[in-house]
Amino acid sequence: MRTAIIFESYHHHNTEKIVKAIAAAFPVTLINIREQTDYNVKDFDCIGYASGIAYNKYYEGVVKAAEKTMEEGKKVFFIHTCGKNDRDFAAKLKDLAQQRGCPVLGTFGCNAWDSYGPFKLIGGINKTHPDEKDIQGSLDFYRKLNL
Ligand SMILES: Cc1cc2nc3c(=O)[nH]c(=O)nc-3n(C[C@H](O)[C@H](O)[C@H](O)COP(=O)(O)O)c2cc1C
Repeated sequence: MRTAIIFESYHHHNTEKIVKAIAAAFPVTLINIREQTDYNVKDFDCIGYASGIAYNKYYEGVVKAAEKTMEEGKKVFFIHTCGKNDRDFAAKLKDLAQQRGCPVLGTFGCNAWDSYGPFKLIGGINKTHPDEKDIQGSLDFYRKLNL
């Protein structure tokens, strides 16, 4: 299975830490859409979409990338970091995957450093995250995908 992870991560590079740890442990190609705009995923059988969360959604760039790259038969999975991991932030992308005929393999999410809005006044919440345990959780998640 040839796998790519398309990601966007700018607030504290929390999501980037997670996907880089995965790419260091498994054969996966990372596509940072803030740096690479001319990417092509036709050679990949499986695509992960990874993002921070803004206003309860995956970043707009990642949503657009999903709209562009989800093609029938490609397997997909989702990874996010957020201030409060209390809901299924990937729900809309899962719906899109279903409409496009893309099997959804799973979702990983964890709390991470968030200093947006009022949290800035206190230096942010979850300041030490993602930590080693979060990274380990993401590696366990990825391993279980059996790619
Ligand atoms: C503009 C903005 C809006 C955010 N909105 C939410 C939100 O609705 N829910 C949440 O749990 N976290 C929210 N966060 C926190 C980020 O999702 C969190 O810090 C994430 O780990 C950032 O990922 P990144 O460092 O990879 O960009 C927001 C952060 C920013 C900058």
